[in-house]
Amino acid sequence: MESNPSPLVGIVMGSVSDWPVMENASKTLAAFGLAHECRVLSAHRSPDAALEYARTAEVRGLKVLIAAAGMAAHLAGVLAAKTHIPVLGVPMESKPLLGMDALLSMVQMPPGIPVATFAIGKAGAVNAALFAVSLLALENAALRQALLAYRENQTRTVLSQILPPAITP
Ligand code: RP5
Repeated sequence: MESNPSPLVGIVMGSVSDWPVMENASKTLAAFGLAHECRVLSAHRSPDAALEYARTAEVRGLKVLIAAAGMAAHLAGVLAAKTHIPVLGVPMESKPLLGMDALLSMVQMPPGIPVATFAIGKAGAVNAALFAVSLLALENAALRQALLAYRENQTRTVLSQILPPAITP
């Protein structure tokens, strides 16, 4: 039986309620054939487990962490405090403040411990995954080719889009 390849990317989210959005990060990595793992770990509801995950991430072979959280979103910053590998933060939308709360919590890291912060919600989930792909593609020629092909395909799609005829004044 073939064993699963070791995950290179860890996708961590504060709650299972983040999964419908973060599934898009997982799908994006899967489209590139990138081995990854997905975990629910909360900076405030399971702080010890979150810290342990970050502390052992590098020795387990993970190269990048994607951290998603909503509201007072400190998960990405807490993970970044315990690991040297890049942490990519994805702010989740909340009902009262629509994700601005999480965006500002993540993007306003004080100097010293960076969190690369992406757009709120699905766009951020997809882009964080693509950013992880481009980081890993620096040392992986096949992945670089796949990323270039993805972008070329995206360009072709845009250029093939046809609008209805302009309305005559
Ligand atoms: C954060 O609180 C989670 O990342 C989630 O976005 C938000 C709400 O969590 P639940 O109450 O839905 O579990 O920690």
